[in-house]
Amino acid sequence: MLPTPYVKCDYEKVYEPAEDSFLLLDSLEKDQLYLSERFNNTLSVVCELGPGSGIITTFMMQNTMPTNNSIYFALDINPWALEATTDTAIRNSCEKSYLETIQSNLTSSIRNNEIDILVFNPPYVPAETIPDIPMDKNDIDTWLDLALVGGEDGMKITQLVLDQLDSILSINGVAYILFCARNKPENIVKLMKNQWSIELVEHRKAGWEVLSVYRFSRKSL
Ligand SMILES: C[S@@+](CC[C@H](N)C(=O)[O-])C[C@H]1O[C@@H](n2cnc3c(N)ncnc32)[C@H](O)[C@@H]1O
Repeated sequence: MLPTPYVKCDYEKVYEPAEDSFLLLDSLEKDQLYLSERFNNTLSVVCELGPGSGIITTFMMQNTMPTNNSIYFALDINPWALEATTDTAIRNSCEKSYLETIQSNLTSSIRNNEIDILVFNPPYVPAETIPDIPMDKNDIDTWLDLALVGGEDGMKITQLVLDQLDSILSINGVAYILFCARNKPENIVKLMKNQWSIELVEHRKAGWEVLSVYRFSRKSL
């Protein structure tokens, strides 16, 4: 069992790691061999969307996922998450890994078809609306709301990413995306399965919620 990174952040500003974060760690651990074989020793671009505290990106760096020839991008809309991710990496002695933290609305800051591994624990809680992105770094309540609420069916943000997946991922790229049951992931699988190979990697009951992590890759490979 791979160790969980030590995380100490101000949870009034960034999302506190929870069952969803840990399910993603377990999914990546389960797929460690799959990923190292898939990417062999090629230079791999790993991108976490919404790193929050940085626990997942740090876990990947600590365990040199997919290989020791990887570079890591952590993109978050919340500026506090970028500081937290850098701190978590340092606390866990990952200074030698190449890590770039970027304030970014989804993957808009990255060129098309460059990402080999995309990891996303999105804001997935169903809500009527999603707050506007604050202009003020100190509007911490809104940053925290943005970490949680996902609009109708909790799918508004995730759907934006799924719609762009073809232009986000490299030819050999894979994406790990977390869903809750209210996101109706089985409908996504039905709609996307002609073009994408979609595997359920892990699922778990967390309180009254059922969480699942799916792996997406292109069918043609
Ligand atoms: C559920 S939290 C996950 C945090 C962390 N990855 C974890 O698993 O503990 C969702 C993260 O997505 C970020 N986020 C929300 N909307 C975003 C957007 N439009 N672009 C980039 N990041 C976004 C939030 O700021 C938050 O850090």
